[in-house]
Amino acid sequence: MNLEEVLNYRRSVRAYDKEKPMDPERVKHCLELATLAPNSSNMQLWEFYHITEPKLLAEVSRACLDQKAASTASQIVVFVVRRDLYKKHARFVLDFERENIRRNSPKERQDKRIKDRELYYGKLMPFVYARFFGVLGLFRKLLANTISIFRPMMLEVSENDVRVVAHKSCALAAQTFMIAMANEGYDTCPLEGLDSRRLKKALKLPHGAEINMAIPCGIRDGNKGIWGERCRLPFEDVYRRV
Ligand SMILES: Cc1cc2nc3c(=O)[nH]c(=O)nc-3n(C[C@H](O)[C@H](O)[C@H](O)COP(=O)(O)O)c2cc1C
Repeated sequence: MNLEEVLNYRRSVRAYDKEKPMDPERVKHCLELATLAPNSSNMQLWEFYHITEPKLLAEVSRACLDQKAASTASQIVVFVVRRDLYKKHARFVLDFERENIRRNSPKERQDKRIKDRELYYGKLMPFVYARFFGVLGLFRKLLANTISIFRPMMLEVSENDVRVVAHKSCALAAQTFMIAMANEGYDTCPLEGLDSRRLKKALKLPHGAEINMAIPCGIRDGNKGIWGERCRLPFEDVYRRV
């Protein structure tokens, strides 16, 4: 399949053929491809829980309200947002970027580029991701709005805004995963209809982790798990050439 065919093939499949097994290593490979998704500041505040063990699958399916996609899936991947890991990831990216610049930037530009990266990942990211009961976000929002009176400034910096930022990036990884799966002839169905508290408990996730979505995986049984033809708004209703 070429990319257009893969995108057309991907459907939300809500019931899977139990007779058709999926290779967990291929699914894992699709998750590796998912990490290639673009993501905000390259902070990669995501984790992927690939569930294959039958007992845990049943528990996770229950937390997914036993929707048919989950109860018939032989594997489920849960996409998790880890805003709480911002310091660790910022340090990792900064260390990588220092070496990256040394390897790939012209000698005379290296010092300035490294300094910029140190400012970005050493100071700005920890400032933007820091949380304290909404208070730090409120302070950032006031500061950003004041600066924006004088020059263009990113305004979505409250703690809730940053939460959206992290979930957006995780969802891009989830979409990349689903496309990679379709390319393998494997099917998926993204789910947000779930009990996040139960799901976090089943996966033993720490308090700071948040469920982005669960994605049951399997192989379609003809058209059985597909709810009819694909419904999309007329393209002219959503496309604005400006
Ligand atoms: C974030 C997200 C959450 C979703 N949650 C559910 C869900 O809980 N249950 C479900 O049956 N489908 C769920 N879906 C699937 C959508 O209903 C589906 O993508 C949409 O109807 C379009 O159909 P298609 O994926 O076949 O193109 C979800 C999709 C997304 C992107």
